[in-house]
Amino acid sequence: MDKYIPVVVIKELDEVDKILPALKASGINCAEITFRTECAVEAIKTACQKYPDMNIGAGTVINAEQCKTALAAGAKFVVSPGLSVSVANVCKEKNIPYYPGCVTPTEIMQVLELGITTVKFFPANIYGDLAALKALSAPFPQVRFIPTGGVDRGNIEEFLAFDKVVAIGGSFFVKEALEKK
Ligand code: 3PG
Repeated sequence: MDKYIPVVVIKELDEVDKILPALKASGINCAEITFRTECAVEAIKTACQKYPDMNIGAGTVINAEQCKTALAAGAKFVVSPGLSVSVANVCKEKNIPYYPGCVTPTEIMQVLELGITTVKFFPANIYGDLAALKALSAPFPQVRFIPTGGVDRGNIEEFLAFDKVVAIGGSFFVKEALEKK
């Protein structure tokens, strides 16, 4: 999987052609386009058509209907802030990676029962950062984490140095990529 997962919010469709090339130019070939705006589905569809070599996923997916729409638009992975069993089921049926948000042992046990072992740890800065991940990894050594929320240049390396961290999510990748342009 991609090591860097930029959390992308597209307010106007033409932003796709600004943000995605900027991400590519900074060496990032992935984008999690979030269901936080009216044009999210169109943005996913446009991104998949225009940037077929990029790993385009859907973020902030909170129900099965959004998930189905995102997959129909071409999303290659799905992320949620928390766990939705119905989203998990849609993704399982379509064989699409699903990364639900999990921050407690109970939530992790729920996703393990669904056969999911890679989770988004969100909001990482509120739920204890690296110390919490290390504590959770003791009982759950099979779980891989994607810390997201409050991750930036100041702490990204610290997270990546922990072997249970497989990727980092964040909006700062987008900000940085656009600043470089
Ligand atoms: C998300 O939904 O994943 C977050 O909004 C990203 O958090 P960040 O803006 O602190 O990176």
